[in-house]
Amino acid sequence: MRILIAGASGLIGTALVQFLGAMGHEIHRLVRGPAMEDTDIPWDPAAGGVARSRLEGFEAAVCLSGAGIADERWTPARKEVLRSSRLDTAGLLASALAGCRDRPECFVCASATGFYGADRGAEVLTEDSPAGVGFLARLCADWEAASLPAQQAGIRVAHLRLGIVLTAKGGALKRMLPVFRAGLGGKLGSGRQFVSWLSLDDAVGIVDYLIQTESIGGPVNAVAPHPLTNAEFSRALGRSLHRPTIMRVPGFGLKAAMGEMSELLLGSSRAYPRRLEASGYQFRHPKLAGALGAALAERQAN
Ligand SMILES: NC(=O)c1ccc[n+]([C@@H]2O[C@H](COP(=O)([O-])OP(=O)(O)OC[C@H]3O[C@@H](n4cnc5c(N)ncnc54)[C@H](OP(=O)(O)O)[C@@H]3O)[C@@H](O)[C@H]2O)c1
Repeated sequence: MRILIAGASGLIGTALVQFLGAMGHEIHRLVRGPAMEDTDIPWDPAAGGVARSRLEGFEAAVCLSGAGIADERWTPARKEVLRSSRLDTAGLLASALAGCRDRPECFVCASATGFYGADRGAEVLTEDSPAGVGFLARLCADWEAASLPAQQAGIRVAHLRLGIVLTAKGGALKRMLPVFRAGLGGKLGSGRQFVSWLSLDDAVGIVDYLIQTESIGGPVNAVAPHPLTNAEFSRALGRSLHRPTIMRVPGFGLKAAMGEMSELLLGSSRAYPRRLEASGYQFRHPKLAGALGAALAERQAN
Protein backbone atom coordinates (compact mmCIF):
# COMPACT_ATOMS: atom_id res chain seq x y z
CA MET A 1 0.00 0.00 0.00
CA ARG A 2 1.00 3.63 -0.45
CA ILE A 3 0.67 5.18 3.01
CA LEU A 4 0.99 8.86 3.96
CA ILE A 5 2.12 9.74 7.50
CA ALA A 6 2.12 13.12 9.28
CA GLY A 7 3.96 13.50 12.59
CA ALA A 8 6.24 10.72 11.34
CA SER A 9 9.30 11.95 13.25
CA GLY A 10 7.68 11.38 16.67
CA LEU A 11 7.73 8.50 19.11
CA ILE A 12 4.91 6.51 17.51
CA GLY A 13 5.58 7.82 13.99
CA THR A 14 9.21 6.65 13.91
CA ALA A 15 8.24 3.13 15.03
CA LEU A 16 5.29 3.09 12.61
CA VAL A 17 7.38 4.13 9.59
CA GLN A 18 9.87 1.39 10.44
CA PHE A 19 7.17 -1.27 10.92
CA LEU A 20 5.11 -0.45 7.82
CA GLY A 21 8.26 -0.11 5.70
CA ALA A 22 9.43 -3.54 6.85
CA MET A 23 6.01 -4.94 5.87
CA GLY A 24 6.73 -3.80 2.31
CA HIS A 25 4.46 -0.75 2.15
CA GLU A 26 5.53 2.45 0.35
CA ILE A 27 5.72 5.15 3.02
CA HIS A 28 5.64 8.90 2.39
CA ARG A 29 6.21 11.28 5.31
CA LEU A 30 4.71 14.75 5.44
CA VAL A 31 7.62 16.88 6.69
CA ARG A 32 7.51 20.40 8.12
CA GLY A 33 11.22 20.99 7.55
CA PRO A 34 13.36 20.22 4.54
CA ALA A 35 12.71 16.92 2.73
CA MET A 36 15.37 14.33 3.62
CA GLU A 37 14.23 11.61 1.21
CA ASP A 38 12.67 11.57 -2.26
CA THR A 39 9.50 10.15 -0.79
CA ASP A 40 9.10 13.04 1.72
CA ILE A 41 6.34 15.56 1.01
CA PRO A 42 6.80 19.07 2.45
CA TRP A 43 3.92 20.83 4.18
CA ASP A 44 3.36 23.84 6.39
CA PRO A 45 0.30 23.12 8.51
CA ALA A 46 0.55 26.42 10.44
CA ALA A 47 0.23 28.37 7.17
CA GLY A 48 -2.28 25.93 5.65
CA GLY A 49 0.15 24.87 2.92
CA VAL A 50 0.35 21.49 1.24
CA ALA A 51 0.62 20.56 -2.45
CA ARG A 52 -2.62 18.64 -2.98
CA SER A 53 -1.37 17.07 -6.19
CA ARG A 54 1.20 15.16 -4.12
CA LEU A 55 -1.53 13.64 -1.95
CA GLU A 56 -3.24 11.83 -4.84
CA GLY A 57 -3.30 8.06 -4.96
CA PHE A 58 -2.62 7.06 -1.35
CA GLU A 59 -4.50 4.08 0.04
CA ALA A 60 -4.21 5.19 3.67
CA ALA A 61 -3.21 8.30 5.60
CA VAL A 62 -2.20 8.65 9.26
CA CYS A 63 -1.93 11.88 11.29
CA LEU A 64 0.15 11.72 14.49
CA SER A 65 1.06 15.40 14.70
CA GLY A 66 0.94 17.43 17.88
CA ALA A 67 3.27 19.43 20.13
CA GLY A 68 4.26 17.49 23.31
CA ILE A 69 1.40 17.62 25.81
CA ALA A 70 3.70 17.26 28.84
CA ASP A 71 6.68 19.23 27.54
CA GLU A 72 5.82 22.64 29.02
CA ARG A 73 3.51 24.15 31.61
CA TRP A 74 0.03 24.87 30.23
CA THR A 75 0.12 28.64 29.96
CA PRO A 76 -2.53 30.22 27.67
CA ALA A 77 0.12 30.52 24.92
CA ARG A 78 1.18 26.88 25.31
CA LYS A 79 -2.43 25.72 25.25
CA GLU A 80 -2.83 27.50 21.92
CA VAL A 81 0.23 25.65 20.54
CA LEU A 82 -1.15 22.32 21.81
CA ARG A 83 -4.47 23.02 20.08
CA SER A 84 -3.23 24.47 16.80
CA SER A 85 -0.54 21.79 16.31
CA ARG A 86 -3.32 19.18 16.37
CA LEU A 87 -6.33 20.94 14.87
CA ASP A 88 -4.44 22.64 12.01
CA THR A 89 -2.62 19.44 11.00
CA ALA A 90 -5.60 17.08 11.18
CA GLY A 91 -7.89 19.69 9.60
CA LEU A 92 -5.55 20.57 6.73
CA LEU A 93 -4.85 16.94 5.93
CA ALA A 94 -8.54 15.96 6.12
CA SER A 95 -9.56 18.83 3.77
CA ALA A 96 -6.69 18.21 1.35
CA LEU A 97 -7.43 14.46 1.15
CA ALA A 98 -11.15 15.19 0.72
CA GLY A 99 -10.27 17.39 -2.26
CA CYS A 100 -8.24 14.69 -4.02
CA ARG A 101 -9.59 12.88 -7.08
CA ASP A 102 -7.98 9.61 -5.94
CA ARG A 103 -8.68 9.57 -2.20
CA PRO A 104 -7.42 7.12 0.44
CA GLU A 105 -9.80 4.47 1.75
CA CYS A 106 -8.93 5.38 5.34
CA PHE A 107 -7.57 8.19 7.51
CA VAL A 108 -6.31 7.25 10.99
CA CYS A 109 -5.92 10.29 13.22
CA ALA A 110 -4.49 10.42 16.74
CA SER A 111 -6.64 11.51 19.65
CA ALA A 112 -6.33 10.54 23.33
CA THR A 113 -8.21 9.03 26.25
CA GLY A 114 -8.10 12.62 27.52
CA PHE A 115 -11.35 12.83 25.51
CA TYR A 116 -13.17 11.39 28.54
CA GLY A 117 -11.86 14.03 30.96
CA ALA A 118 -9.77 13.56 34.09
CA ASP A 119 -12.47 13.17 36.73
CA ARG A 120 -14.23 9.91 35.79
CA GLY A 121 -12.87 7.92 38.77
CA ALA A 122 -13.30 4.14 38.34
CA GLU A 123 -15.98 4.43 35.61
CA VAL A 124 -15.21 2.04 32.75
CA LEU A 125 -14.91 4.22 29.65
CA THR A 126 -15.82 2.72 26.29
CA GLU A 127 -16.11 4.43 22.94
CA ASP A 128 -19.82 5.00 23.77
CA SER A 129 -19.01 7.02 26.91
CA PRO A 130 -19.67 10.75 26.56
CA ALA A 131 -16.89 13.34 26.36
CA GLY A 132 -15.57 14.75 29.62
CA VAL A 133 -14.88 18.31 30.67
CA GLY A 134 -11.65 20.30 30.93
CA PHE A 135 -8.94 21.50 28.57
CA LEU A 136 -7.82 18.08 27.29
CA ALA A 137 -11.34 16.77 26.81
CA ARG A 138 -12.28 19.85 24.75
CA LEU A 139 -9.04 19.60 22.78
CA CYS A 140 -9.66 15.93 21.93
CA ALA A 141 -13.28 16.56 20.92
CA ASP A 142 -12.23 19.44 18.62
CA TRP A 143 -9.29 17.35 17.29
CA GLU A 144 -11.66 14.55 16.29
CA ALA A 145 -14.08 17.03 14.73
CA ALA A 146 -11.25 18.45 12.60
CA SER A 147 -11.30 15.26 10.47
CA LEU A 148 -14.92 15.82 9.44
CA PRO A 149 -14.10 16.96 5.87
CA ALA A 150 -12.45 13.57 5.21
CA GLN A 151 -15.44 11.70 6.62
CA GLN A 152 -17.86 13.80 4.56
CA ALA A 153 -15.85 12.91 1.45
CA GLY A 154 -16.48 9.20 2.15
CA ILE A 155 -13.08 8.41 3.65
CA ARG A 156 -13.21 5.96 6.57
CA VAL A 157 -11.90 7.96 9.55
CA ALA A 158 -10.66 6.23 12.73
CA HIS A 159 -9.94 8.35 15.83
CA LEU A 160 -7.18 6.71 17.81
CA ARG A 161 -7.98 7.47 21.48
CA LEU A 162 -4.52 6.64 22.77
CA GLY A 163 -3.63 5.91 26.38
CA ILE A 164 -0.08 6.41 27.67
CA VAL A 165 2.30 4.72 25.24
CA LEU A 166 4.94 2.75 27.15
CA THR A 167 8.42 2.78 25.67
CA ALA A 168 11.81 3.60 27.16
CA LYS A 169 12.53 5.70 24.05
CA GLY A 170 10.39 8.63 25.18
CA GLY A 171 7.17 9.88 26.71
CA ALA A 172 5.97 9.16 30.24
CA LEU A 173 7.96 5.97 30.93
CA LYS A 174 11.29 7.49 29.91
CA ARG A 175 10.68 10.28 32.43
CA MET A 176 9.71 7.84 35.18
CA LEU A 177 12.61 5.42 34.75
CA PRO A 178 15.45 7.44 36.39
CA VAL A 179 13.24 8.19 39.41
CA PHE A 180 12.21 4.56 39.86
CA ARG A 181 15.74 3.28 39.16
CA ALA A 182 16.99 5.52 41.99
CA GLY A 183 14.46 3.89 44.33
CA LEU A 184 12.50 7.15 44.58
CA GLY A 185 9.37 5.90 42.79
CA GLY A 186 5.95 5.55 44.33
CA LYS A 187 2.33 6.48 44.00
CA LEU A 188 1.19 9.94 43.01
CA GLY A 189 -1.55 11.59 45.07
CA SER A 190 -3.97 8.98 46.42
CA GLY A 191 -2.68 6.41 43.89
CA ARG A 192 -6.31 5.40 43.27
CA GLN A 193 -6.54 7.14 39.88
CA PHE A 194 -6.64 4.76 36.90
CA VAL A 195 -3.94 4.76 34.23
CA SER A 196 -4.83 3.70 30.67
CA TRP A 197 -1.72 2.48 28.90
CA LEU A 198 -0.52 0.43 25.91
CA SER A 199 2.83 -0.77 24.63
CA LEU A 200 4.56 0.94 21.70
CA ASP A 201 4.26 -2.36 19.78
CA ASP A 202 0.50 -2.19 20.24
CA ALA A 203 0.30 1.52 19.29
CA VAL A 204 1.94 0.58 15.99
CA GLY A 205 0.00 -2.68 15.70
CA ILE A 206 -3.34 -0.91 16.23
CA VAL A 207 -2.64 1.72 13.54
CA ASP A 208 -1.73 -1.08 11.12
CA TYR A 209 -4.87 -3.02 12.15
CA LEU A 210 -7.11 0.01 11.60
CA ILE A 211 -5.59 0.58 8.17
CA GLN A 212 -6.26 -3.05 7.20
CA THR A 213 -9.69 -3.47 8.82
CA GLU A 214 -12.30 -1.82 6.63
CA SER A 215 -15.12 -2.48 9.10
CA ILE A 216 -13.78 -0.07 11.75
CA GLY A 217 -14.30 3.68 11.71
CA GLY A 218 -15.02 6.34 14.35
CA PRO A 219 -13.52 6.39 17.85
CA VAL A 220 -11.28 3.52 18.92
CA ASN A 221 -9.87 3.24 22.45
CA ALA A 222 -6.20 2.41 21.83
CA VAL A 223 -5.44 1.06 25.30
CA ALA A 224 -4.52 -2.34 26.73
CA PRO A 225 -7.45 -4.29 28.23
CA HIS A 226 -6.02 -4.07 31.77
CA PRO A 227 -5.95 -0.49 33.07
CA LEU A 228 -4.49 -0.25 36.58
CA THR A 229 -4.50 2.27 39.37
CA ASN A 230 -1.49 4.54 39.69
CA ALA A 231 -0.46 2.69 42.89
CA GLU A 232 -0.61 -0.69 41.09
CA PHE A 233 1.25 0.75 38.10
CA SER A 234 4.01 2.13 40.37
CA ARG A 235 4.38 -1.19 42.20
CA ALA A 236 4.61 -3.11 38.89
CA LEU A 237 7.27 -0.74 37.57
CA GLY A 238 9.24 -1.06 40.83
CA ARG A 239 9.02 -4.87 40.58
CA SER A 240 10.26 -4.82 36.97
CA LEU A 241 13.26 -2.74 38.07
CA HIS A 242 13.77 -4.62 41.38
CA ARG A 243 13.41 -1.37 43.29
CA PRO A 244 11.21 -0.36 46.27
CA THR A 245 8.27 1.98 45.66
CA ILE A 246 7.60 3.36 49.11
CA MET A 247 7.82 7.05 48.22
CA ARG A 248 4.67 9.08 47.71
CA VAL A 249 4.24 12.44 46.01
CA PRO A 250 1.29 14.31 47.52
CA GLY A 251 -1.32 15.59 45.09
CA PHE A 252 -1.15 19.16 46.40
CA GLY A 253 2.61 19.22 45.67
CA LEU A 254 2.04 18.15 42.07
CA LYS A 255 -0.75 20.70 41.66
CA ALA A 256 1.48 23.45 43.03
CA ALA A 257 4.39 22.46 40.79
CA MET A 258 2.49 21.70 37.58
CA GLY A 259 -0.72 23.69 37.78
CA GLU A 260 -3.55 22.45 35.53
CA MET A 261 -1.12 20.08 33.79
CA SER A 262 -1.08 17.92 36.95
CA GLU A 263 -4.29 16.32 35.60
CA LEU A 264 -1.99 14.21 33.41
CA LEU A 265 -0.72 12.51 36.59
CA LEU A 266 -3.60 12.87 39.01
CA GLY A 267 -6.57 12.47 36.65
CA SER A 268 -8.26 9.08 36.37
CA SER A 269 -8.80 7.27 33.07
CA ARG A 270 -10.14 3.73 33.02
CA ALA A 271 -10.62 3.29 29.29
CA TYR A 272 -11.50 -0.11 27.83
CA PRO A 273 -10.72 -1.19 24.22
CA ARG A 274 -14.22 -2.49 23.52
CA ARG A 275 -14.18 -1.94 19.76
CA LEU A 276 -10.74 -3.47 19.24
CA GLU A 277 -11.68 -6.46 21.35
CA ALA A 278 -15.03 -6.94 19.59
CA SER A 279 -13.36 -6.88 16.18
CA GLY A 280 -10.69 -9.42 17.17
CA TYR A 281 -7.51 -7.33 17.55
CA GLN A 282 -4.86 -9.41 19.35
CA PHE A 283 -2.80 -7.34 21.79
CA ARG A 284 0.94 -7.97 21.71
CA HIS A 285 1.13 -6.91 25.37
CA PRO A 286 -2.26 -7.17 27.11
CA LYS A 287 -0.67 -7.17 30.61
CA LEU A 288 1.51 -4.47 32.13
CA ALA A 289 4.34 -6.81 33.21
CA GLY A 290 4.85 -7.91 29.59
CA ALA A 291 4.69 -4.34 28.25
CA LEU A 292 7.22 -3.12 30.84
CA GLY A 293 9.46 -6.11 30.11
CA ALA A 294 9.41 -5.28 26.39
CA ALA A 295 10.10 -1.57 27.05
CA LEU A 296 13.02 -2.31 29.38
CA ALA A 297 14.49 -4.86 26.97
CA GLU A 298 14.25 -2.31 24.17
CA ARG A 299 16.20 0.12 26.37
CA GLN A 300 18.99 -2.40 26.97
CA ALA A 301 19.16 -3.15 23.23
CA ASN A 302 19.81 0.56 22.44
N1 LIG B 1 2.80 8.98 23.24
C1 LIG B 1 1.72 8.96 24.03
O1 LIG B 1 1.77 8.45 25.18
C2 LIG B 1 0.42 9.56 23.55
C3 LIG B 1 -0.73 9.43 24.34
C4 LIG B 1 -1.92 9.98 23.90
C5 LIG B 1 -1.97 10.66 22.69
N2 LIG B 1 -0.84 10.77 21.93
C6 LIG B 1 -0.92 11.54 20.69
O2 LIG B 1 -0.46 10.75 19.59
C7 LIG B 1 0.27 11.57 18.68
C8 LIG B 1 1.63 10.94 18.45
O3 LIG B 1 2.25 10.75 19.70
P1 LIG B 1 3.84 10.73 19.84
O4 LIG B 1 4.13 10.28 21.21
O5 LIG B 1 4.45 10.05 18.68
O6 LIG B 1 4.13 12.29 19.75
P2 LIG B 1 5.56 13.03 19.58
O7 LIG B 1 6.69 12.09 19.76
O8 LIG B 1 5.52 14.24 20.44
O9 LIG B 1 5.53 13.44 18.03
C9 LIG B 1 4.54 14.25 17.51
C10 LIG B 1 4.99 14.80 16.18
O10 LIG B 1 4.14 15.92 15.89
C11 LIG B 1 4.86 16.86 15.11
N3 LIG B 1 4.82 18.16 15.78
C12 LIG B 1 5.48 18.53 16.92
N4 LIG B 1 5.24 19.83 17.20
C13 LIG B 1 4.42 20.28 16.22
C14 LIG B 1 3.82 21.55 15.94
N5 LIG B 1 4.01 22.61 16.75
N6 LIG B 1 3.04 21.65 14.84
C15 LIG B 1 2.82 20.58 14.02
N7 LIG B 1 3.37 19.37 14.23
C16 LIG B 1 4.14 19.22 15.32
C17 LIG B 1 6.30 16.35 14.98
O11 LIG B 1 6.39 15.62 13.75
P3 LIG B 1 7.02 16.27 12.40
O12 LIG B 1 8.19 17.11 12.83
O13 LIG B 1 7.41 15.05 11.62
O14 LIG B 1 5.94 17.07 11.77
C18 LIG B 1 6.40 15.36 16.13
O15 LIG B 1 7.36 14.38 15.90
C19 LIG B 1 0.36 12.97 19.29
O16 LIG B 1 -0.59 13.80 18.69
C20 LIG B 1 0.02 12.74 20.75
O17 LIG B 1 -0.64 13.83 21.37
C21 LIG B 1 0.36 10.24 22.33
